[in-house]
Amino acid sequence: MTTQSRRRLLQAVAAGAYTIPGLYAEALKITANLGEGPFYPDKMPLDTDNDLLVLNDGITPAAGEISYVSGRVLTKSGEPLRNGYVEIWQTDINGSYLHTGGRNTGGYDSNFQGYGRFVTDSKGQYFFRTIKPVEYTLQGAYRCPHIHFAVSKSGHRLIATQLLIKGHPANERDGLVKRARAQGDMLESVMVDFKPVPGSKLKEYTANWDIVIGKTAQELEDGTLGIGLGKPSRPKFNPSNTR
Ligand SMILES: [Fe+2]
Repeated sequence: MTTQSRRRLLQAVAAGAYTIPGLYAEALKITANLGEGPFYPDKMPLDTDNDLLVLNDGITPAAGEISYVSGRVLTKSGEPLRNGYVEIWQTDINGSYLHTGGRNTGGYDSNFQGYGRFVTDSKGQYFFRTIKPVEYTLQGAYRCPHIHFAVSKSGHRLIATQLLIKGHPANERDGLVKRARAQGDMLESVMVDFKPVPGSKLKEYTANWDIVIGKTAQELEDGTLGIGLGKPSRPKFNPSNTR
């Protein structure tokens, strides 16, 4: 190779001409951050596992349509977030939260756990069994069905957002959805299909949702939230303190 052609090659590499097509173009779309909302449990349930249908050794399951909600937590480059601390919370069938300010007429279904947590595995996977979320009006605000999600790692909140049901007619009535769309985000990143389980006699659904956080796993290990993630809406969250 002549000096001149070597120089051209180096210039071409520097310009990106020799990168493998698609390798860097595959960056994932970061999941919209819809915030924590006002109804994170103000008192934790006695059972905080990933099965929200049954409390401890209870034999009566919560009322509602059984839903298996699972997926992965990924970085924007597609790496799994392992040991990610995934929390979910949602209302019961009556539209009541595990929060003293979030109760609807009809009270709270005492069989519903209302909140659950799961630590992601080496593939970044999480699993929950819960009920299909329902619409509600609380403190004068109407909301389409949703499940609140928060992901933390090393005691730091990385994202707090909400899973919404893809194609649900109530989405069009929801203030949060309207505001996001007015700002140009159609919220595809949080819209999730609830698919009926084939052959199930009960009304059961599966919902699969990958959550993409805006930092790499390495950056998360330094113990800071970094630029662009903003401050968590609650003080430093340490899972080990709340077990
Ligand atoms: Fe909510």
